Amino acid sequence: MSTPSTTSASPLPAGLDLNAHPVAFIGTGSMARAIALGLYRASPAQAERIACTRRDAAALVDLAALGIRTGSDNQAAIAVAEIVVLAVKPQVYDDVLASCRNAFRPGQVLVSVLAGIPTAALERHVPDGVRVVRAMPNTPALIGQGVTGICAGASAGPEQLELASRLFASVGEVISIDERQMDALTATSGSGPAYLFYLAEVMMAGARELGLTTETADTLVRGTLSGAAALLAQSPYSPETLRARVTSPGGTTARAIDVFDAAGLRLTVARAMAAAERRAAELAHG
Ligand SMILES: NC(=O)c1ccc[n+]([C@@H]2O[C@H](COP(=O)([O-])OP(=O)(O)OC[C@H]3O[C@@H](n4cnc5c(N)ncnc54)[C@H](OP(=O)(O)O)[C@@H]3O)[C@@H](O)[C@H]2O)c1
Repeated sequence: MSTPSTTSASPLPAGLDLNAHPVAFIGTGSMARAIALGLYRASPAQAERIACTRRDAAALVDLAALGIRTGSDNQAAIAVAEIVVLAVKPQVYDDVLASCRNAFRPGQVLVSVLAGIPTAALERHVPDGVRVVRAMPNTPALIGQGVTGICAGASAGPEQLELASRLFASVGEVISIDERQMDALTATSGSGPAYLFYLAEVMMAGARELGLTTETADTLVRGTLSGAAALLAQSPYSPETLRARVTSPGGTTARAIDVFDAAGLRLTVARAMAAAERRAAELAHG
């Protein structure tokens, strides 16, 4: 369990000025790609101020076509950046940072999106003077509707946190959080989109069991979940109130919710999230 601490939602900061703060992404898979595209869309004229690397640089050809610098040379990308976003898998981060250590220079900001890896561990892998910020975005960043938790390492201050806020504001909402709650945030919003997709999968399967075609089930479930998510986002009411409003006593929804409750769904979800939080903590130990 995490220690309680302060969490604050920040107002959306203005976008990042890429001319003043060029950004390199080390490990451009799905997450880095979403953020890089968000930055690009916010300032397409500054595309060449974004650098993206992965070993298979040919997979970045679409980003290169936008004017983004792409390649597999991490050191070269770090050399031209002020903000370095590390987005490789947590299992390989230490080797990757060790191979790039000499490319960093004091004053640069290392923003890690790695699940589970604490800022103190990251700070050990970069030279003194490099400021470390930790962030946990999520995949709705792909459509500019992500939510990202950020916290500063001991090496970073409000200025670096502000830069990271501006970076992630290009792909959605930004929340400032105490690092001790980062694994809990990871289990909630980092992994959270997959929980909804899982629900969509099982609802589609349930609809097919009821005799609907795959196409009809797909249309109904996507429309229902995206409509309900938009209502939840826009409504002043709590999820409980919104649910109560579509649950007449003795009605069809009430019958379905009774089955969820009898099966212990609340406890199962709580356990699943606790397991995700524990896994994030395990990743810190390799
Ligand atoms: N996906 C999510 O929902 C999510 C959410 C929040 C945070 N994260 C975090 O984001 C990080 C990346 O996740 P992801 O889902 O984007 O994974 P991913 O798609 O597998 O991306 C990782 C990328 O790292 C590249 N890579 C591996 N070794 C490299 C090296 N030595 N130098 C440069 N690039 C290298 C890989 O490409 P090559 O094999 O071509 O090198 C790959 O494209 C993880 O640490 C994860 O914890 C993910």
